[in-house]
Amino acid sequence: MASTAPTSSSTRVLSGIQPTSMSQHIGNYLGATKQWVTMQHDHDVFFFLADLHAITADPPEPAVLRQRSHQAVAQLLAAGVDPEHSAIFLQSHVPGHTQLSWVLECLTAYGEAGRMTQFKDKSARGERVSVGLLTYPILQAADILIYQAHQVPVGEDQRQHIELTRDLAQRFNTRYGDTFVVPDAFIPKASAKILDLQDPTAKMSKSLPDAGTLNLLDDPKVLTKKIKRAVTDDGTEVRFDPVAKPGVSNLLVILAAVTGSTPDAAAAQFDGQGYGALKMAVADAVVAFAEPFAARVHEAMSDPGELDLILARGAERARPIAEATVNDVYDRVGFVPPLARPR
Ligand code: TYM
Repeated sequence: MASTAPTSSSTRVLSGIQPTSMSQHIGNYLGATKQWVTMQHDHDVFFFLADLHAITADPPEPAVLRQRSHQAVAQLLAAGVDPEHSAIFLQSHVPGHTQLSWVLECLTAYGEAGRMTQFKDKSARGERVSVGLLTYPILQAADILIYQAHQVPVGEDQRQHIELTRDLAQRFNTRYGDTFVVPDAFIPKASAKILDLQDPTAKMSKSLPDAGTLNLLDDPKVLTKKIKRAVTDDGTEVRFDPVAKPGVSNLLVILAAVTGSTPDAAAAQFDGQGYGALKMAVADAVVAFAEPFAARVHEAMSDPGELDLILARGAERARPIAEATVNDVYDRVGFVPPLARPR
């Protein structure tokens, strides 16, 4: 195992989120960042904003991307990610991610990359797809392997990417000797896949129409309206049954996750009441969470200098680990190390 691996007493946790919009949606929070907050107290944790990944499809205006990156840090802080415990940094501040990605790209078959769902779906829809979208999961594998992470807390949609990461780690280890920790996905049971409110067969996503997405920074009135207009199912009974009642069950999952309950227990409160009562309760619970969250984001955004300092400190923690892994990998691959000459 490489010298950059953490000691056995500390499990290293790493995850990332793309700054592709001004606001996290409730799926990002319940599927991922909420877990980050819990895990930061008893693990060695690294969380980053995947800004390199954020230009793979329709790159935004430079000023917009910069603002989204700051917004994304502010939202991690508002969610409770604490820079005293967690290294919070930007992917573009640690050059090792792309340096390692190249080596892993050369170990990945073209067909293997082409089978990744995002690339397959977008190509099948005839959308413009960049080479960056094809290699995106390999950069993600580098993001993880470079820190020798044991656990990667993500939503269900990232499972395939973590599988590829494991395959690449094993492939490298077999060919060049034991180098990488083979990481596990850490996927929450209940809220791994929050569904779109307008189409409860699809996951809630930044790229779907806004009416089905609960952005945590939406105005409370907008959140309430979106929830009231959520597509529900036939019948009137409020019951947790994801197959027969996907729309209602999705609302129950959201209510339970926000209030610290379970979907079945949440359903029991609405015995004899209809979907309207459920929607009101979900709207109240979501607004009660989102309003103070938005206030914390606003406060954090009022001090961009502090946000930059947090990112600088995070990158300072991340960079030496990343550099050590890259040096080890480059050496194993057979690249001649540069001679360090005294100045
Ligand atoms: P991203 O930015 O799309 O999403 C961030 C996290 O939110 C989770 N998520 C959801 N969870 C439940 N229900 C949903 N509807 C939902 N939508 C999104 C995602 O699973 C993710 O955990 N490729 C990654 C970013 C990334 C990364 C990494 C993650 C880049 N490198 C290395 C982990 C490790 C992405 O696009 O996430």
